[in-house]
Order: sequence, then C-alpha cells, then structure tokens
Amino acid sequence: MAEKKPYCADDLADINTPLLFDYWYVAALGGEITHDLKERTILNRSLVMYRDENGNAVILQNRCAHRSFPLDQSNLEEGGIRCRYHGIKYNHDGEIIDVPCQDKCPRSGIKKYITREIGPLVWVWMGENADADEADIPELPVHNMDKWTHVVGKYNHMEGSYILMHENLCDLSHLPFLHADTFKFPPEYTAAPIKVEQDGNKVTFYRQMEDWNLLRPFFHPGLDFGNQKVIYKSGGEYLTPATNKGYGLLIPLDENGDECAPVGHYVNHYLTPETEESCHYFWFIARNYELDDEDYSKKQGEMVQNGFEEDLVAVKLLQEMFDRDQHDYREIGIKADKPGVVMRKIIKELAG
Ligand code: FES
Ligand SMILES: [Fe+2]
Repeated sequence: MAEKKPYCADDLADINTPLLFDYWYVAALGGEITHDLKERTILNRSLVMYRDENGNAVILQNRCAHRSFPLDQSNLEEGGIRCRYHGIKYNHDGEIIDVPCQDKCPRSGIKKYITREIGPLVWVWMGENADADEADIPELPVHNMDKWTHVVGKYNHMEGSYILMHENLCDLSHLPFLHADTFKFPPEYTAAPIKVEQDGNKVTFYRQMEDWNLLRPFFHPGLDFGNQKVIYKSGGEYLTPATNKGYGLLIPLDENGDECAPVGHYVNHYLTPETEESCHYFWFIARNYELDDEDYSKKQGEMVQNGFEEDLVAVKLLQEMFDRDQHDYREIGIKADKPGVVMRKIIKELAG
C-alpha cells in the first residue's frame, strides 16, 4: 500500500485520522443477532455477537484469552461460549467459568461490551465500559414514533473509510450526478444555494426549492397539494462519528405564507468503522405520509438501497485511488463542500 501522505489542511479529518472510541456505534441490525455466533470487527476490534437465553444481545471480545482462538468459530452452549481449541468456557459477561483440565479459573476473561437495542438497531459502546452513558446515544426522533412508517435497509459493507462516507452524506452536490439514474434530481436542484449551520459538534445543512413539482418522482405518486404553494427542503445533519441523517421534506405554505407541518421522509445513516479503510453501513427511512402503502415502502426501500449502492461503489473507488495513486495530491475545495468541511473539522478536533 502507498505511503499515507497528508492531502488536506491540517485542521480537517482525512482517511488517516485515528478512529474515535468514546462513542456509541451501531453494531448490527437487531435481526442480524441470533442464537448463532457472528463475528463483526468494529474499530479494529474483533467482536463476537449473539443472543443469550433471554434474547438479549451479547457482544464480547472474539479472541479467546488463552491462545487467541476465534470464539465465533467455537460453540454457543447454555450459559455461554465454549472455546473450540482447548474448551475454556466463558459466560455471557465474558468471565471464565470452566477450564476442563483444572479446578480453578483464571480471573481475567474477555471484554464484554455494553450494548443497547433500540428499535431496529443494536448499539455498542466502544470506549471504556465505565464511561458508557445511554444518554449519549444520538437521539433520532423518528426511531420510535407512531406517526412514521419505517423502511429498514439491509446491512452494507463499505470498502472505504467512514470519513469518505460521512463526507458523501454531508454532500448535497453529488446527488444529481452520482445518483442521476436513481434519485433523479432535476438540474434546478444543483443551482440552489446550500445553507450550513454548526451547533456544537453537530452540523446541519440544507437547500431549498420553491417548486416541489420538480421533485415529484421522489415522492409518492398520490401526493397532491392542489394549488397550495409547497416548498421542497433537502438537507441533513451530521450528529456523531456514528450517525448522520438526511431528509427530503415538503413544506406547504398557508394563505399567509406561513409554513405548515412538513410531509416527507428522513433517512437515517449509521456508520461504524471496521478498520481505517472500511466500515459497516446501516440505514432506515421514516416517512410520515401514505403510512400503509406497503408496495410503496418496498419501492422506496429499493430506490434508496440502489442509490446507496452507488455511494458504496464511489467510496470504494475513492479509497482505492488513495491507496494506489502516487500523484502529489492536495484536494481542492468548492463552495458546496462546506457541510463536509465543517464535519471534518469537528472529527479532527475530537481525534486530537
Ligand atoms: S485458545 Fe481458547 S481455550 Fe485455548
Ligand atoms: Fe450519495
């Protein structure tokens, strides 16, 4: 692999910036964790995931404390995992409870990670266990609201740095180009100015269009506002190194020109670094209209997954370029980069 050279201003995170441990990351979709053992590497830590007898998600260090045998290649028994190499058994807390050839068990077992299952997601705290605080799980208001129909996307493996994907998610300017065939944004979308605001370690950004009819293909065909004026707002928010969200909202105006309650969808994105050069990616959409149209949910889910597969390909291509090309490269900036630049400043500062 090529030598890692700096390619941007010192105050911006790039693909060489150290990973951040003191955060809640999405480890898996709830449905991925079963009564079988499953390995997933997160922040360069090999983890084994499963459900215990009560159905609770358990995440442990995957490396046997004895001679490093992978526990996901071992056996899940009642009460814990028995390593397939020399038979040491760990309980659901990672403590050693049986060593077949001796009476006493060594005191240090393997690390148990703190998890929380909320809606369709299983979160894991990757810092020191003593520092875990459930209140730090980013609150996405659409997680548990009855007024939203959820379309949960499938797990995606991304062969590129999570920084590249966060930048993609903070970037409204690529939508009409990279996603020309899937999302079908009109040319007018490209010209709308992008507003950016920073609130502590969060970044919000959006662009607005006065005529929502240009965006019709992006919404349910049954949506009709008659002659009412409707603004289209497209934007997103970088929340934490693990979380980003996007939205497309239609905002009808009343006769006084005041904004009425928006109709639209949020797309929640969850990025979990696997290594510096790869990450896990989860998403789900929540929409607050045509709640019972399951056919539309299916179509909407497929359209969004197709679009995200274009991002997966693009991020992989970027990562490969970083890995192999030896040009003396220094990235240039354009106006539309601002949300991503602010996000990269925040991550760089967090990484110290
Ligand atoms: S490596 Fe697991 S018991 Fe020896
Ligand atoms: Fe994209």
